[in-house]
Amino acid sequence: MYKGSARAYTNIALIKYWGKKNEELILPMNNSLSLTLDAFYTETSVCFDPEQKEDRFFLDGQLQDSKATKKISHFLDLVRQLADKNWQATVESRNFVPTAAGLASSASGLAALAAASNEALTLGLDEQGLSRLARRGSGSACRSIFPGFVEWEQGSDDETSFAKQIPSANWEQDLAMLFVLINDQQKDVSSRDGMRRTVATSSFYPGWLESVPEDLAQAKIAIAAQNFTRLGEVTEANGLKMHATTLAATPPFTYWSPDSLVAMNLVRQLRKEGLECYFTMDAGPNVKVLCQKKDEAALKAAFSQHFAPERLILAHAGFGTQVL
Ligand code: DP6
Repeated sequence: MYKGSARAYTNIALIKYWGKKNEELILPMNNSLSLTLDAFYTETSVCFDPEQKEDRFFLDGQLQDSKATKKISHFLDLVRQLADKNWQATVESRNFVPTAAGLASSASGLAALAAASNEALTLGLDEQGLSRLARRGSGSACRSIFPGFVEWEQGSDDETSFAKQIPSANWEQDLAMLFVLINDQQKDVSSRDGMRRTVATSSFYPGWLESVPEDLAQAKIAIAAQNFTRLGEVTEANGLKMHATTLAATPPFTYWSPDSLVAMNLVRQLRKEGLECYFTMDAGPNVKVLCQKKDEAALKAAFSQHFAPERLILAHAGFGTQVL
């Protein structure tokens, strides 16, 4: 038996990854920048067994169907290739996220599986190698290997596309992120399908790509200068731009729901009233609000007037992927 276990935390992009230049290798069209958070994580153990006939995947104790298992098997094939072994495996994954949050994260899941596999088969990958491997499972997972602020450099091939931590003198410890979990009836468009459709059909996509390098530069300047206003403004603007691309896709789509707009408007109103905060959204209706730790209680209190308490979760800067 060859077994390994790891825990990985989710990350939220402040400068978004949106679009691939290589689907097979998961090479992104642009660099992205994220903050790793402490509130949601995945623990995964993987056990390779030379006697086993096929891969099995348990999520939160439930044996998964062939579709979910196929995605995991595809990733394990890469691991098997690296180890030069054809052993099948049992993967047991547990998501530590509030139930019904719609936050089951592929980033923490695949980062944890990459680190657990590294352990199980003693692949000897360093953090850069782990980031490259996690990337092949889900692009955003390559950032969850590291704590704090993280940049994923797009690179030009499998070797050169990986994430690394951005020096920040621990400034992220002064920040907080409020997750506003939005009830939504819409049918999901996965981030994978959404970005594919956008790259292929959205007339706004070239504008997005053109603008990312400047946004990224601004974000890095803001982090170096510990300038919250600057980081918040570019985070909000970049997220809005990413979401704008979906409206010009064929067929068009949006991840926003009515309550997402309520949350966004509340952020703008709070800012007017002097509480500095900025929102961002990913491939779903939830809104994430960046603030300074000193304001987190006031922010949560203001949101409590519009959203039920169980829909509000405060997160802080989290840890890199850990072997258990
Ligand atoms: C909107 O990493 O989930 O959250 O690489 O296809 O697995 P795949 O996509 P994924 O996309 C994340 C998109 C995003 C922005 C971000 O996290 O940068």
